[in-house]
Amino acid sequence: MSKGLFITFEGIDGCGKSTQLNLLKDEFTKQDIDFIEVREPGGTAVGEKIRTILLDKANDSMTRMAELLLFEAARAQITEEVIIPALNKGINVICDRFYDSTTAYQGYANKMGTDLTDFLNLKATNETYPDITILLDIDPQTAYTRRAQRGEEDRIEKLGLAYQEKVREGYLELAKGEDRIKVINADNTPEKIFEQIHSYIWDLIS
Ligand code: TYD
Repeated sequence: MSKGLFITFEGIDGCGKSTQLNLLKDEFTKQDIDFIEVREPGGTAVGEKIRTILLDKANDSMTRMAELLLFEAARAQITEEVIIPALNKGINVICDRFYDSTTAYQGYANKMGTDLTDFLNLKATNETYPDITILLDIDPQTAYTRRAQRGEEDRIEKLGLAYQEKVREGYLELAKGEDRIKVINADNTPEKIFEQIHSYIWDLIS
């Protein structure tokens, strides 16, 4: 049996991932393609508890190293418990964020360094690589305006626009060296954005 396709979605906060994930899920369902959807941090009983700690605004004393290791802990759990078994059964996995988030947010924006994040990413995932990564690229101001309509900010969103700008730069730097990462301009209509995502993913499926 061939392995499932491992698809990840990335981008700064408010880039429109949820809309695109829903469109992809609808399309897979329509075409009777087997898939599961997971999100990071979270997606398992252990991971959802870690997520609560990571996003809780009360935890503003969290050190950068503690934060990094918590993201990796949640990732280790979901990779072993959910992602690897599904891929091995031939089920496609759609993941809302994966280790590129750690590279961009902790490695670049938090200046933990990509040598460290690369090392931990590989350890936490047992070298499970996405087949394709959709990077929704958008200017942080536009993303912020979208987010503002969604209500209260979590601990990471509260870090502000300059932080999101660094995350964006980190993602774009990372994408330069990785063919699997498809950069898509997310300042467009949902339909236009999805057309591009669809063509990249169906190239791999067919
Ligand atoms: P979430 O509400 O899931 O945000 P979004 O809907 O934008 O995906 O919160 C996840 C937050 O955690 C988001 O701000 C990105 C951040 N994050 C990291 O900093 N490092 C990571 O490794 C991951 C997976 C997420």
